Amino acid sequence: MIAVTVPATSANLGPGFDTLGLALNLYNRVEMDRAEPGTLEVLLEGEGAGSLTADWSNLALRAADLVFRQRGGRPPGLRVRIVSSIPLARGLGSSATAVVGGILAADGLTGGGMSAEEALNLAASLEGHADNVAPALCGGMTISWRNERGYGCLRLEPPLELGAVAAIPTVPMPTARARAVLPEKVPLADAVFNTGRAALLVAAVTTGRLDLLREATMDRLHQPYREKLLPGFREAVTAALEVGALGAFLSGAGSSVLALIRKNDGAKVGEAMEGAFRQKGVGCATRILCPTPQGATVSIS
Ligand code: HSE
Repeated sequence: MIAVTVPATSANLGPGFDTLGLALNLYNRVEMDRAEPGTLEVLLEGEGAGSLTADWSNLALRAADLVFRQRGGRPPGLRVRIVSSIPLARGLGSSATAVVGGILAADGLTGGGMSAEEALNLAASLEGHADNVAPALCGGMTISWRNERGYGCLRLEPPLELGAVAAIPTVPMPTARARAVLPEKVPLADAVFNTGRAALLVAAVTTGRLDLLREATMDRLHQPYREKLLPGFREAVTAALEVGALGAFLSGAGSSVLALIRKNDGAKVGEAMEGAFRQKGVGCATRILCPTPQGATVSIS
């Protein structure tokens, strides 16, 4: 049996739209094994289990199928178990875990040997961008890009004292809906604003300058357009910063807000964000998390 554990991720981190990502210590697990010929058994447990399909249309199985097709076809019988702790459609990389989990499990089941570059490219081609799949595969913080040869990524080590709190609204935010409100063109001044912030964010993380994160996580490329979809978002960011968060932003396409914090500040920042959402009539749970240096792990038993 192959078991793949994949971390949650937060994409964009404010200014790094479709390029920056961070792995977090909340996990989904994909298990895969051969079964009697003619069998397809798919067990779904945990977050969103009732809303996911239990056949080849399931995202993890579609990802696995890409690998099986490259390697001579689907196994005659397959048993899959997916255990999810990451809420769906909340901007915490749940679909990236399915894609990465499916690819690595299918690779393991068919002899292994897939390179990290191949896994990244297969996963990003299925997701459409690499900002969640890169940290899901590599851990840490990642910068990803695409050129005519495919996707690439560079992994950075976040400072040890950096923590995170996710405010997770009860309302989901499908990525397609959050992308549909974005303009095709942006003012040059906004592009300049984000270029500087994204560069500063990478420098702040690599040099441990946590004091720069507030400035470095500002964004004008996607959050201003998306905030109208999410009552309480702007207030939650302001509330988090007021009680000492180092930076706060929409996690991926939302609906969660992620605050970067010094590790001991989790409870007060979480309460502040939850209160801000509730004042706008939006229910919300909070999770105190931590960036994780470890990306997806594969074990064979
Ligand atoms: N970069 C993506 C977005 C993240 O903001 O739409 C969602 O996967």
